[in-house]
Amino acid sequence: MSDSTTNWYDPIIAPFDHLGVRQWREWVVRDVRGRVLELGVGTGLNLPRYRAATAIAAIDPDLGSLQHALARRNGKPITLHQARAEALPFAADSFDAVVATLTFCSVGDPLRGLREAARVLKPGGAFRLVEHVRVDNRVIGGVQDALTPAWKRIAGNCHLNRDTLALVRQAGFQVRGVREHLGGIFIGIDAIK
Ligand SMILES: C[S@@+](CC[C@H](N)C(=O)[O-])C[C@H]1O[C@@H](n2cnc3c(N)ncnc32)[C@H](O)[C@@H]1O
Repeated sequence: MSDSTTNWYDPIIAPFDHLGVRQWREWVVRDVRGRVLELGVGTGLNLPRYRAATAIAAIDPDLGSLQHALARRNGKPITLHQARAEALPFAADSFDAVVATLTFCSVGDPLRGLREAARVLKPGGAFRLVEHVRVDNRVIGGVQDALTPAWKRIAGNCHLNRDTLALVRQAGFQVRGVREHLGGIFIGIDAIK
């Protein structure tokens, strides 16, 4: 997303929320406890859904999005930081949980971002994310590959064809469970450090 205070993101993502992504947001953030870090918070659509976190830090490189997220803090103990997942401004082992929704499709160097997530997460801490990924199907995956070069130019570096689950494992997380939605286009990953 570009640095802008015009919020075009929420109306664009709303149809996906109606297709079930909203429940996935709940699954990612509702029960995470303790000190939580959200990566790529965007306009803050997840912020009203936290129930059990005692403190939430959230990062995004896009200042315009962060300005919208500010309005969604609603009195909760949330701090917002302009930063990239690849270079997190936090000490090692400082969070009980790290979460993200629809973020790693857009991160410039997703493996580096995931390694940073592992660095700042406490040993045994929870890592939960929802992502759209490349489908393991020759035809659909091929369409995702073909569309990605043009799509990422108009959609803020969003890649339609990433294998984020493989990257999560490569970054050193232990994956406890994977849930699929809409034929595997969306996946929910439940992992620990
Ligand atoms: C599709 S939006 C998702 C926003 C939000 N997580 C949600 O679920 O609505 C992708 C977000 O990733 C952010 N982003 C892009 N590059 C990033 C990076 N290197 N590190 C962290 N976030 C990044 C974008 O600014 C944008 O807010």
